[in-house]
Amino acid sequence: MLENDVKKVLFSEEEIRQRCKALGEQITKDYNEMGKVPLLVALLKGSVPFLCELMKYIDLPIEVDFMIVSSYDGTESVGEVHVVKDLSRSIRGTSILIVEDIVDTGRTLHSISNLLLHKGASDVKIVSLLDKPERRVVDVTVDYAGFPCPNEFVIGFGLDFNEKYRNLGYVGVLKEELYK
Ligand code: IMP
Repeated sequence: MLENDVKKVLFSEEEIRQRCKALGEQITKDYNEMGKVPLLVALLKGSVPFLCELMKYIDLPIEVDFMIVSSYDGTESVGEVHVVKDLSRSIRGTSILIVEDIVDTGRTLHSISNLLLHKGASDVKIVSLLDKPERRVVDVTVDYAGFPCPNEFVIGFGLDFNEKYRNLGYVGVLKEELYK
């Protein structure tokens, strides 16, 4: 059973649902005040469960699109992202809300935010289920953060280890013996 590989549960299904509701309501209020409707850009694959839960609580006529990005390996290009799947339409003049599972070093979101602004987005904001501020290398503003995350390797609710555990309904810490 999957749960045998989990050292401890950090955020339960119900806690995540409650937090998504609060985030969705805050996003609705803020964008209403700004008079804007964001295009939600979800980064595959980790953000999928979060996107599904969050968008139910955003009471605006939003659209959704997806990107797949991968970090380049190798020392010279650390911090650069390679776009594996791009957006399906032009974003010139569009408000973007990037939906991410976790912000760790911040490199991925720093690169993608710049890329989307370069493509003509009018503004780019970030919502992330988890935020690991201790690990930050690049300065990134997480406009909406679900939960601060301890400096441990976490899995579940979209987050993976070697592509596994994304289907857990909660966020937990993986047992160290499984990855060390
Ligand atoms: P960053 O560019 O270092 O901020 O990396 C963000 C990406 O690293 C996330 O989208 C995740 O795919 C991955 N990541 C970082 N920490 C964890 C973790 O604890 N569990 C699973 N994936 C993680």
